[in-house]
Amino acid sequence: MTIAIGSDHGGFELKKAIIEHLNKLQIKTLDIGAYDTQSSDYPDYAPPVCDAVLSGEANLGILICGTGIGISISANKIHGIRCALLGDVFSAKMSREHNNANVMALGARVTGVGLALEIVDAFIKTEFSDEIRHVKRVEKIMSLEKR
Ligand code: RB5
Repeated sequence: MTIAIGSDHGGFELKKAIIEHLNKLQIKTLDIGAYDTQSSDYPDYAPPVCDAVLSGEANLGILICGTGIGISISANKIHGIRCALLGDVFSAKMSREHNNANVMALGARVTGVGLALEIVDAFIKTEFSDEIRHVKRVEKIMSLEKR
């Protein structure tokens, strides 16, 4: 499994912790930056992570900014992306099982590192449910891209 991961300056430290955690679990990471805490713009990091997921280079994506809000909004502008802004483990599971989220976002100034790692674990371990009601609902989400 490969996880594409990116953050602005606000998420840089949490990104480092997540990469270390995933690498310990033998999960490959594709780090698209930021590579330091110098001020940067969160919308710049969503496209490369989302493109890696859409091309199949990565199985899933993780995006981090201060709140997770700006970077998740940015990701959800990209066709094919279902990005869930997560702050708890239950929602992490549901975002995969019910919504087939392919990218998750975290707020580094909101969620502590311990909880963030548990959220990441739940997100990457949970599969999309093949129940028809969930499949249909996700199809409805995707059809909104035609508006
Ligand atoms: C950067 O200061 C901050 O605005 C950003 O990390 C994020 O919280 C935006 O949603």
